[in-house]
Amino acid sequence: MWRSSGRLPALLLPRCCFALRRKGGDGLFTGRSNGSRLKVAEALLDTTAKGQEIRNLPFKIKERHSLEYVRQFPHLRCKTNIFSSLLRIRSEASTAIHSFFKSNGFVHIHTPIITSNDCEGAGELFQIEPASKIAEKRDNTHFFDVPSFLTVSGQLHLEVMTGAFTQVYAFGPTFRAENSQTRRHLAEFYMVEAELAFTESLKDIMEVMETLFKITTSHILSNCPDDVELFHNTVAPGQKERMEQMLKNSFQVLSYTEAIDILQQSTETFKFEPKWGCDLQTEHENCLVRHCGNIPVFVVNYPYDIKPFYARDNQDHPQHTVAAVDLLVPGVGELCGGSLREERLDLLKSRLEEHGLKDTYHWYEELRQFGSVPHGGFGLGFERYLQCILGVENIKDVIPFPRFSHSCLL
Ligand code: 4AD
Ligand code: MG
Repeated sequence: MWRSSGRLPALLLPRCCFALRRKGGDGLFTGRSNGSRLKVAEALLDTTAKGQEIRNLPFKIKERHSLEYVRQFPHLRCKTNIFSSLLRIRSEASTAIHSFFKSNGFVHIHTPIITSNDCEGAGELFQIEPASKIAEKRDNTHFFDVPSFLTVSGQLHLEVMTGAFTQVYAFGPTFRAENSQTRRHLAEFYMVEAELAFTESLKDIMEVMETLFKITTSHILSNCPDDVELFHNTVAPGQKERMEQMLKNSFQVLSYTEAIDILQQSTETFKFEPKWGCDLQTEHENCLVRHCGNIPVFVVNYPYDIKPFYARDNQDHPQHTVAAVDLLVPGVGELCGGSLREERLDLLKSRLEEHGLKDTYHWYEELRQFGSVPHGGFGLGFERYLQCILGVENIKDVIPFPRFSHSCLL
C-alpha cells in the first residue's frame, strides 16, 4: 500500500468494513471470515472518534447483502467486500484500456465535456447555464452566447483530431438525458471512444473493438483474480465459463438484414415486432446473442434512416443502408456503437440538410474540404462492459455514484 508517512492511514485497510477494536481484544479480529481477513503490518491505534456504534451500521458482518440492498448506501458501500472488489476491477480495467491504446499507437485526447453539438442528433441533452441565469427566468441570453450542453459523445472532436494524429481515443464521462430507468441506462456514464483514419471497411473498426474487449478482459483476469472470483461466485454463478467462451471464440458477424430474418423466424415472443427499418430493441439484441451461442456478435449495415447523420452511406439502393456497426454481448445487448464516417462532402451536405442541420456543422463540413480521408470509429459503454464480464444485472452496481432520472444522491 502506498503511504506518505510511516503509519497506516486510519480505516484504509483492504477489505475491512468498519472501525477497529483494541489490539488483542475480542471483536472484529477474532475468527473473521466473509472475506474480511486482515494482514496488519503496523501498530493498530484506537480510533479517536467518539460515539461510533458498529451495531447501527446497515451492513451485518456475517450476512450477505444483495447488490440492490447496498446500493441504498452510496456513502458506505465501498466498505463492503463486493463493492470494493468492483472498484478495484474498475480501476484495473481503466488502466488496461489506456495501456491497450498506448501500445497500439493511439493518442489520448481530452475531448470537451461542455459542447455546443448534439453528436447523436437524438436530443437527449442536458443544457447548461449558470444557476443564477436559470433563476433569472427572463434572461434569454446564454453564458457561451450559444446553447451549450454536457457531451453525449466525443466523436466529432475525435474526428477533428484524426486529421492530425491518425489514431486517437478518448475515455471520459458522457451524459444522456434519457428518461429511462432500465438496468443498462445511466444519465452519466463513461465512454471509451476510438477514431481511426484510413479505414478501408467496417472490419478495421470491428478488429479494434474485439481486441480491446479481449485484451482488457485478460488483463483484469490476471491482475485481480480474487476480485473477479468473488463476483463470479456470489453474483453470477456460471459467469466464469461464459467469459471464457467469449474470450476463446471469434466474435460473430451478422448483417442487419440477416438479423431481422433471424428474429422474424425465431419462436420467441417479442413485445416489439422485428421489422426491417426499425431499431433493434434489447429483447431482439438478447435473442441474437443467444442465436450466436452466447458469443458477442457484430451487427453491420443498418438502415440509412435510423442512424445519425455522420454514418457513411453504403449507396446500396433499393435497401439503402449505412456502414454502421453495433457490438451485442451476452447479458447486456449493445456494448459498442460505431460506423465509418461520411467523408464525401456532397453526400454529407445532403444528409445534414435532410436532418435540418444545414448551417449547423460548417466546421464539420470543412474537415471534408481540407485533407479529408476515409475514417471511422466507435464508442464502448464502460459500465456495460463491466456488467458483461462480471455478470452484473444492474448498471447502477458498477459505477461508484450512479446518476439516473429522479436520482442524484451525494
Ligand atoms: O451507440 P452510442 O450512442 O454511440 C455514440 O455515441 C457514438 N458517437 C460513439 C462513437 O462512434 N464514437 O453510444 C456508445 C455506447 C453504447 O453502445 C452503449 O454501450 C453506451 O455507449 N451507452 C450507454 N451506457 C450507459 N447508459 C446510457 N444511457 C448509454 N447510452 C449509450
Ligand atoms: Mg448505439
